[in-house]
Amino acid sequence: VSNPVSFKAKYGPWALIAGASMGIGRAFSHSAAARGLNVVMLARGAELLEEIAAEVRAEHGVEVRALAADLADPHIGDVVAAATDDLEVGLFVYNATVAPAGRFIDVPLDVQLLSVAVNCATPVILCNLLAPAMAARGRGGIGLVSSTGGTQGSINFGTYNAGKAFEWILAETLWAELGPAGVDVATILVGPTSSPNYNAFKDTLDPALCNKPDSPLPLDRARARLMDPSTPQEVAEALYDQLGQGPVLFSRPTDGSIIADTLALPREEAVAVWRELQETSTHVPERQAR
Ligand SMILES: NC(=O)c1ccc[n+]([C@@H]2O[C@H](COP(=O)([O-])OP(=O)(O)OC[C@H]3O[C@@H](n4cnc5c(N)ncnc54)[C@H](OP(=O)(O)O)[C@@H]3O)[C@@H](O)[C@H]2O)c1
Repeated sequence: VSNPVSFKAKYGPWALIAGASMGIGRAFSHSAAARGLNVVMLARGAELLEEIAAEVRAEHGVEVRALAADLADPHIGDVVAAATDDLEVGLFVYNATVAPAGRFIDVPLDVQLLSVAVNCATPVILCNLLAPAMAARGRGGIGLVSSTGGTQGSINFGTYNAGKAFEWILAETLWAELGPAGVDVATILVGPTSSPNYNAFKDTLDPALCNKPDSPLPLDRARARLMDPSTPQEVAEALYDQLGQGPVLFSRPTDGSIIADTLALPREEAVAVWRELQETSTHVPERQAR
């Protein structure tokens, strides 16, 4: 674990976590507070958000501000600016997502566009809002939470995987441009992680297909990983510990090796790996990120 004093000096005094009230986002909030940062926690559902904000405040003794807002709102930049204009935000984590599952032609256009707004437009809006001040100060950190799914197309996750690819490539550019100004930017290509959304998906998996963790094939290793999800805290610590160590981070080394092997394949084979990974599911989950 990186030294909390230097973490706070580099990325304090305030963190903004976009998508903060559940699962991985809740862990990002706790872990930032545990490292001594005050936290602005943003999510839509005000009641749960207030509850988790109180939990973070009580556990870590930092200041916490709960901001109930919708990241699909095209005016979200103004909303966040108004709520944070008296604060020095040194760490920004973009965690929320919209992940409509289903064949592209079956998913309604308004849902696809919601996904594009939350996964693509709003990270641009909020980086545009927060990065200039970080660069002017000569310090800060930005984490865009992507997915191992963002490195190839896949059946059933058209706009989601494309949006995760957008966050990945945006983070690489920001890393290259802002690094020399002292601002650490990274994406974390998250693998299976036991958030409420993932737990609903995990219930649909066929375990008999997922018992070959030592296979040389990326599909077998990716399937085994489905049955052995990260904890949200593992993901949060991985981003914070590795921020400043390169543009693309993983929460487990095995995710990096699965992705390296998949990216080395011809594209049709990479897409096929992800198709078969989706087909590890026996039915549609009851819950989806939306
Ligand atoms: N879990 C996995 O296995 C996994 C795998 C790969 C990548 N990831 C990535 O990890 C990140 C977290 O995903 P997760 O599903 O695990 O979610 P999560 O961190 O458990 O929770 C999502 C948070 O975002 C908030 N949120 C969602 N939509 C929002 C909106 N429109 N405006 C404001 N807040 C919003 C939710 O609260 P409200 O609903 O109250 O707004 C909640 O606090 C995502 O970027 C995802 O792509 C996850």
